[in-house]
Amino acid sequence: MPCLNFIQRYISQRAPVFSLLRNVGGYSWGVTVLEVIQKSTEFLARKGVESPRLQIELLLAHVLRMPRLKLYLSFDRELTEAELATLRELVMRRGNREPLQHLVGTVSFCGYEIAVNRNVFIPRPETELLAEQCWIWLDQSGIESPAVLDVGTGSGCLAIALALRCPAARLTAVDISEAALVVARSNAARHGVEDRITFVCGDAFSAISKGTRFDLIVSNPPYIPTEEISRLQPEVRDYDPRIALDGGADGLGFIQRLAVEAADYISPEGRLMIEFGDGQAELVRGIFGSAGWNVEDVKVDDHGCPRILVARRC
Ligand SMILES: C[S@@+](CC[C@H](N)C(=O)[O-])C[C@H]1O[C@@H](n2cnc3c(N)ncnc32)[C@H](O)[C@@H]1O
Repeated sequence: MPCLNFIQRYISQRAPVFSLLRNVGGYSWGVTVLEVIQKSTEFLARKGVESPRLQIELLLAHVLRMPRLKLYLSFDRELTEAELATLRELVMRRGNREPLQHLVGTVSFCGYEIAVNRNVFIPRPETELLAEQCWIWLDQSGIESPAVLDVGTGSGCLAIALALRCPAARLTAVDISEAALVVARSNAARHGVEDRITFVCGDAFSAISKGTRFDLIVSNPPYIPTEEISRLQPEVRDYDPRIALDGGADGLGFIQRLAVEAADYISPEGRLMIEFGDGQAELVRGIFGSAGWNVEDVKVDDHGCPRILVARRC
């Protein structure tokens, strides 16, 4: 009975959404916060979404414009038709594995709100460690007005966090994607640092004048091996820009370029700090060692994985 199977499958996949619809239809039996959380959690779980309960709580908090924890004091609150309609749409999209950050439109990076869309890589928590290492070094370096270059700025998260944490720093942020730079510029304006960051569209260092020297070069480059991309979670594989992920056959193509090309742009006492992927630590050390860099440190992330390389010219 393929037809019946199909109908059963369809109904079971849609059940929570149907209950939401029922209410959007103008009936007066209210759906409470707790019911919505429970039904949507089941729906998202069936769709393979990780941490479904947390995801629906974050979506609901976004729709109701309240802190997530306040939901726990509002379990009996009934949603209005408009709230249900908005939530239903978001739950459906999340069920189709659209990232939560795209649905709510922003992500917190080092405590700063950064807007994201499909044109930019969603900033990850690991990269906050990179930002932190950068501002610690900038503070300790004693350089009065340090020049900083962010290669592959994406949403602008690193450059913006550094501009905010290091008010004397002068920043340049490069990306090959003009669409990403539109988002980065708007994020810089959102934080009032648009005059402190020069945004440049170009392939790595190609648009940076020869002879320019930076005290700090920072990058979170694309570092996923090409053939691994198809096995990533749909949220990443289908929604982060491919150019932000793809590090070539071994994932190290862009990192190799950085090791060679950054040498002409780093000041004698300057530092280069980059993020790299799982299992790449020794290879990345080797690449920088062979390109004439002294690897000073490799920082480990919260999961115990080596994640950040700190290097200076030999
Ligand atoms: C992993 S994302 C990092 C974005 C952001 N810095 C962050 O940490 O969230 C890599 C970025 O590098 C950019 N990119 C890729 N290839 C590039 C190239 N050849 N030159 C400049 N930028 C490049 C991508 O467009 C993307 O924005």
